[in-house]
Amino acid sequence: MSGEQKVAIVAGGGQNLGEALSYRLALEGYQVAVADLIREHAIKVATEIRNHYQVASLPVTVDLTKEDQVRKMVRDTVDIFGRIDLLVYNAGVAKSANITEYELQDWQKTLDTNLTGYFLTAREVAKVMVNQRYGNIIQINSKSGKVGSKHNSAYSASKFGGVGLTQSLALDLAEYNIRVNSIMPGNLLDSPMFQSLTPQYAKKLGIKPEEVRQVYIDKVPLKRGCTYEDIANAVVFYASDQASYMTGQSINVTGGQVMH
Ligand SMILES: NC(=O)c1ccc[n+]([C@@H]2O[C@H](COP(=O)([O-])OP(=O)(O)OC[C@H]3O[C@@H](n4cnc5c(N)ncnc54)[C@H](O)[C@@H]3O)[C@@H](O)[C@H]2O)c1
Repeated sequence: MSGEQKVAIVAGGGQNLGEALSYRLALEGYQVAVADLIREHAIKVATEIRNHYQVASLPVTVDLTKEDQVRKMVRDTVDIFGRIDLLVYNAGVAKSANITEYELQDWQKTLDTNLTGYFLTAREVAKVMVNQRYGNIIQINSKSGKVGSKHNSAYSASKFGGVGLTQSLALDLAEYNIRVNSIMPGNLLDSPMFQSLTPQYAKKLGIKPEEVRQVYIDKVPLKRGCTYEDIANAVVFYASDQASYMTGQSINVTGGQVMH
């Protein structure tokens, strides 16, 4: 790898955590394919990378749950950049409801995006990485992939599934010098995803929406919410050769909230 510029795909890189990860990887010198369902977001982030970080970037519009589109994303990335060193699978959706009211279509969409999309993307990228005999795959999971989450059955089930997939990919790909790890963020309290769930959390806890934030801070031994930077630091480390003896892991970045 020495001498060549590294290449990353951030799947679900168009906003919020994925956007922050795309910029951080650009800062670390990666050329970044920013892949997202929302075309304008992918273009915005890729343009910012080119202008601000002076590294090449490729916006890709893709539905990561569709096999043909994922194949095209990987083909286009290799056509432009020649290789793929890192896949960050960040795309995820969350819909909160009590189990007795959980709609099948919400279950299906959550499993498709959080788990099937990870499978499809990792599989297609792995084909390239196997040929290279080098690569890193990192899934952005959640602490809900380690412990069940009230009123979040589909989300938690999809993220638990991601742990099994990560471990199995790690076993399949170890002989090709490809490492696969999941990162389990705690609550990103300032993210729109968390804030969109606040009314349901207030209902579930029987408190006012404005009290939800403090309740979630109080659950964390280090007494703060998770930040995009906390996750970016873990991604950069696990993508680096400093983590060369680590694969198949599900790494908590939760301020001590989850310890297993
Ligand atoms: N926000 C939190 O508190 C929190 C906590 C723990 C883990 N996470 C995980 O972190 C990741 C990012 O979370 P976020 O809060 O930034 O979410 P977000 O909804 O703001 O961003 C997700 C991105 O994925 C894209 N996406 C969704 N479905 C897609 C599809 N089918 N094809 C292509 N792109 C698709 C969206 O367009 C969006 O840009 C998710 O995997 C989430 O589960 C979030």
